[in-house]
Amino acid sequence: MARDWIKWHEEYEVPGSSLARRLEVVRGYLQPLLDRPRRVISMCAGDGRDVLPLLPEGSTAVLVEWDPVLAERARGSAPEGVTVVTGDAGVTDPYAPAAPAEIVLACGVFGNIPYADTRRTIQAMPSLLAPGGTVIWTRAGDSPVRDEFAANGFEELAYCAPTDARFRVGMHRLTRPPSPFVPGERLFTFV
Ligand SMILES: C[S@@+](CC[C@H](N)C(=O)[O-])C[C@H]1O[C@@H](n2cnc3c(N)ncnc32)[C@H](O)[C@@H]1O
Repeated sequence: MARDWIKWHEEYEVPGSSLARRLEVVRGYLQPLLDRPRRVISMCAGDGRDVLPLLPEGSTAVLVEWDPVLAERARGSAPEGVTVVTGDAGVTDPYAPAAPAEIVLACGVFGNIPYADTRRTIQAMPSLLAPGGTVIWTRAGDSPVRDEFAANGFEELAYCAPTDARFRVGMHRLTRPPSPFVPGERLFTFV
């Protein structure tokens, strides 16, 4: 049965919960990057609460979310310049208006797709990013995700692995030249 992602979001409202703490870390990583208008992509954006409240005026952002209720919530708090696409974040097409992006968010994605898809998505990040662009990602538990970024031309700017929670948050910056955007590329499929 498909997961109830609306219910999943309810944990954000519980102070001190793992998800509430994860959100603080993600926002803490994002905040200094959003010091001026930016081009931002959010994959599987949920209701967009990580990035939307922080987005400087004049930014261009594309948030892609499958669930129409969550996408509508994101739309409801989105400033001008933000496009919320109700659709499949697993293909590159919807990202075109914000690519090459300075920031890509992949939060709540890698733990819900096969590892081969995680690898493919990280390999494709340089085609979504501007030079020196940054990916902020999350994953529950330890995994080879950090090695995958390192193998694809990224340097680690930050990594959070609390001993009393399973969430992990990483921030990686592209250090090699980006690749051209490839429309129609399949990155991942949610399981
Ligand atoms: C774990 S939640 C993460 C939401 C948000 N990024 C966050 O961290 O709060 C995963 C989200 O992916 C969405 N989703 C699932 N499959 C998707 C797909 N193929 N394309 C876009 N979004 C998808 C779900 O509806 C859900 O909102």
